[in-house]
Amino acid sequence: MCGIVGYIGFRQAPEICLAGLGRLEYRGYDSAGLAVITDNGQLDVRKVVGKIAALRELLQSQPLAGTIGIGHTRWATHGKPSVENSHPHLSCDGRIAVVHNGIIENYQELRSRLEAEGHTFTSQTDTEVMAHLIEKYYDGDLRAAVCRAVRDLQGAFAFGVICADSPGQMVAVRRFSPLVVGLGDGENYIASDMGAIRKETDRVYVIADDEVALLTPDKVELTDLDLNPVDREVFVIPWPADAAEKGGHKHFMHKEIHEQPDAIHACLAGRLSDPDKPIVLEDLNMSEREIKSLRKVVFTACGTAYHAGLVGRFLTEKLARIPAEADLAAELRARDPVVLDNTLCIVISQSGETADTLVALRDMKEKGAKVISVLNVVDSSIARESDGVVYIQAGPEIGVASTKAYTLQILTLELIALHFAEVRGVASPQQLHELKSALLKMPELAQTLLDREEDVKAIAAKYYQKPNALYLGRGINLPSALEGALKMKEISYIHAEGYSAGEMKHGPIALIEPSCFTVAIAVHGEVYDKMIGNIMEIKARSGPLIAVADDGDEQIPVTGVDPQADPDDVAGQPNDMLWVPPVPELVSPVTVAIPLQLLAYHAADMRGEHIDQPRNLAKTVTVE
Ligand code: G6P
Repeated sequence: MCGIVGYIGFRQAPEICLAGLGRLEYRGYDSAGLAVITDNGQLDVRKVVGKIAALRELLQSQPLAGTIGIGHTRWATHGKPSVENSHPHLSCDGRIAVVHNGIIENYQELRSRLEAEGHTFTSQTDTEVMAHLIEKYYDGDLRAAVCRAVRDLQGAFAFGVICADSPGQMVAVRRFSPLVVGLGDGENYIASDMGAIRKETDRVYVIADDEVALLTPDKVELTDLDLNPVDREVFVIPWPADAAEKGGHKHFMHKEIHEQPDAIHACLAGRLSDPDKPIVLEDLNMSEREIKSLRKVVFTACGTAYHAGLVGRFLTEKLARIPAEADLAAELRARDPVVLDNTLCIVISQSGETADTLVALRDMKEKGAKVISVLNVVDSSIARESDGVVYIQAGPEIGVASTKAYTLQILTLELIALHFAEVRGVASPQQLHELKSALLKMPELAQTLLDREEDVKAIAAKYYQKPNALYLGRGINLPSALEGALKMKEISYIHAEGYSAGEMKHGPIALIEPSCFTVAIAVHGEVYDKMIGNIMEIKARSGPLIAVADDGDEQIPVTGVDPQADPDDVAGQPNDMLWVPPVPELVSPVTVAIPLQLLAYHAADMRGEHIDQPRNLAKTVTVE
């Protein structure tokens, strides 16, 4: 999993590639590199271990110049992060340079063959075989050589290739890994995603599997591997050029948390406009007959998107009365699920490129399920393989820790469950009216929650130095607890566990002591009284407690507080409160998410962590 970018035109390639790589760092950032073809027809390469900033620094002391270049930001899979293993990789003669995102599964076998033929390798990567294969097949036609080389490969890849002997060209090709070609005037681009080059152009070709793009400064030709021309419409990127920048916020994550009121509005637009009118979800691509005959819904996803899937499962059973399951994508295939007739699989993914999710989708399709996906990035691999796609309309999400995408995934699953309930006639008009009215108020409620950021920050200041946290929830807010804990651990590195509050006595209660704080989700609803019980048990064991509760709740702040306790004992102190505006319990995961995102954000910021690029994590995991 890596990011690639390339430029061919009349301006200096290094600057444009560096800017693009900066926007792709979410795809990996353990090392980086650039190759250009110089004016005197040589390939010149710079590589570093570290982030794009380190590459930028190297270029200051050792500049690169050229109007054709390819760049790479790496997340190591084969071979540790090192200068040798960083991309671009070169052929033996140093005339061909390759950047790659993906995994070449048969690289060992190819490498042995190429070594036997006399090629010398300088890295431990799978990628390097591609540089040598192209060298082997090159006879003056770079595109033809790339096509021949690709036929030898098994696995997933997107490549950018330049050759000092074909200086007016760049070739790009993909299979399973994302790739776009950006179109300019006298200049063209390649990139792993649109965000990387949006500043330069809003016109792109989204490249499909086994398609090849030949770029010159003045034109782009798309063909299949047999060089038959491919017709592709130009896709116009629907978001503005500055959407991928921080816009005055300290971190992308903070910006994205704050984008939620608008994003919620955009997600609801055209789908829900009036509490008394049916939900409109045309892109779902399911007839009323199909919805009525559904026998099971299986949700699958990874990470944060899986937590949204757990909310979807709950809503599907509770509202639409359809048996539902939710599985981690990496686990779904392993259990070889029994797929009955009329089973729907709902795949959830921000990027649409997560490898495990894609594999689960294919498996469910093969077993006969219809597959609908809930996605953010347009025209991704998952989108192309789904029977229907509902876009969450979040705009680009750059922060590795997902925030606005999670909120909108839940919101979209609320819309789908309500739509199913409506079509199947299983929810009362009052219930539908109440839930739709609450969803329509969400943009405003999200803003209210953001306006309370200083209160959340004050709580973060009290807790950010503690080493451990327990997040407890029940029912539809169990996923909120899991997600709250995930947010906290992934960016602040505080060890945080999300648990069903009902399971507390079966283990986690052993962790309760003053250095472990608990975040208890105790909004009003079916499980409220039980949450009160849990809070009492925590306070009785001197556990510090933050509660998420409805505005005006007078009970929770003092629940479990022991006025006789020693003044140094937290049992005697009122609970810290993250207040949320009251909403029906079935839509509360949307409101609960926001203060928990802010809490994690501020705790991590106070600890001075790399919030947008937490250690060892990547935004899009395109390997299994
Ligand atoms: C990575 C990201 C998470 C994300 C997960 C699934 O782990 O860091 O934020 O939830 O992948 O990604 P997807 O793009 O499929 O939603």
